[in-house]
Amino acid sequence: MRAVDLVVKKRDGGTLSREEIACLIDGYVAGSVPEYQIAAWLMAVYFSGMSRQETGHLTDVMIRSGTVFDLSGIDGPFVDKHSTGGVGDKVSLILAPVVAACGVRVPMMSGRALGHTGGTLDKLEAIEGYTTALPIERFCDVLRDVGYAMTGQSRDVVPADRLLYALRDVTGTVESVPLITASILSKKFAEGSDALVFDVKCGSGAFMKTRQRAHELAESLVETATALGKRVVAVLTRMEQPLGHMVGNFLEVEESIACLRGTVAGHDLQPDPRSADLMEVTLRLAAWMLVLGGACGSVDEGTRLAQRCLEDGSAWERFVRNVELQGGRRAVLEQRYGSFRASERHTITASESGRVQQIDAYKVGMAGVYLGVGRNTADDAVLPHVGIDIHRKRGDGVSSGDALCTVYAENAEALRRATPILEQAFVVGADQVDQSPMILEEITNL
Ligand code: URA
Repeated sequence: MRAVDLVVKKRDGGTLSREEIACLIDGYVAGSVPEYQIAAWLMAVYFSGMSRQETGHLTDVMIRSGTVFDLSGIDGPFVDKHSTGGVGDKVSLILAPVVAACGVRVPMMSGRALGHTGGTLDKLEAIEGYTTALPIERFCDVLRDVGYAMTGQSRDVVPADRLLYALRDVTGTVESVPLITASILSKKFAEGSDALVFDVKCGSGAFMKTRQRAHELAESLVETATALGKRVVAVLTRMEQPLGHMVGNFLEVEESIACLRGTVAGHDLQPDPRSADLMEVTLRLAAWMLVLGGACGSVDEGTRLAQRCLEDGSAWERFVRNVELQGGRRAVLEQRYGSFRASERHTITASESGRVQQIDAYKVGMAGVYLGVGRNTADDAVLPHVGIDIHRKRGDGVSSGDALCTVYAENAEALRRATPILEQAFVVGADQVDQSPMILEEITNL
């Protein structure tokens, strides 16, 4: 089989077999197929697309390019969640302990912040001592003990994705739905999950900016997973404004603690209404994970079960235990709310009265990059205690001079760069604001 013939076949709209895809991908990983031929093939895929079965073959070949987590010594089933990324998206921090407390194990492999979107690993590592670099044996121990464990993608898992993603990034082929699908599914199934829930975000702060593109990706994820014999659900959720009210690594841990602890019956921390959208998304995704994991028969039942584990404190206990087992200092979780925020601060206020019409999530995310919440390149460092606390959410009424958000920065220069972007992100006006539900659509193969 010659690589050039396979490139030509795809260029002309043909469908490649599993063997043909393996010839290209295995050859690329082994170094026998040169990068320029893979670059040409990626561009051919970008224009000609791939059938669902072909995307399934690509996913399968990519999974087999590296280590597949073996969780066979632990009782399953294992269900994970994948988010396509957003701003203020701290769902995983709350969801994993909730689902574990309800009896379904979550082996969670997460990513780091890049560009305007945040990363779960950076948030967790903002807890002093917390490590996400767990050897597989330790990962399994934590998963067995707490019901969930958090880790990053190791170099041995899906090496084909690392190579292909870097090449897509410099050849203008990132935005191909079949390539995105295979990239996401290969990493998730290599980590040993039996079933998956996808949070496909849609809006200015998301990878997919329009409803149509988000739907296309969701459908491709579900249908390709079906071709691979996996049970999945894709939930389309809104990402026009940041989720919840905190954007920043430890700041998002703070909000997660408040959501996990403030919901415990009788606790002095109260649930914050600015976290309502975050909890709406979290409970829905948790409910689907519980359905997939067999803990309940319907999403409504799953929602009630998840709510109960929040109220009886069992989700909070799981969170604390996970932090301890992954090396984090428990005392950090019990500090007074707000005591870790960076000292250089500025509050942005409304210049007119009315309602908050818009808080552009993309702009807030980019302000976060200037502050050190996120990174421009994969090698940049992030800062734990900087970020933004949003005081008024979309639709809230404000009077001129009211606080819209407070910015926490490491130094005056970072504050000076982030402030004008945040001022532009908030739009206040006289119009009524439509408050549609956070869940736009659900697609499943159950
Ligand atoms: N996220 C991934 O993991 N892969 C892509 O290709 C795009 C987004």
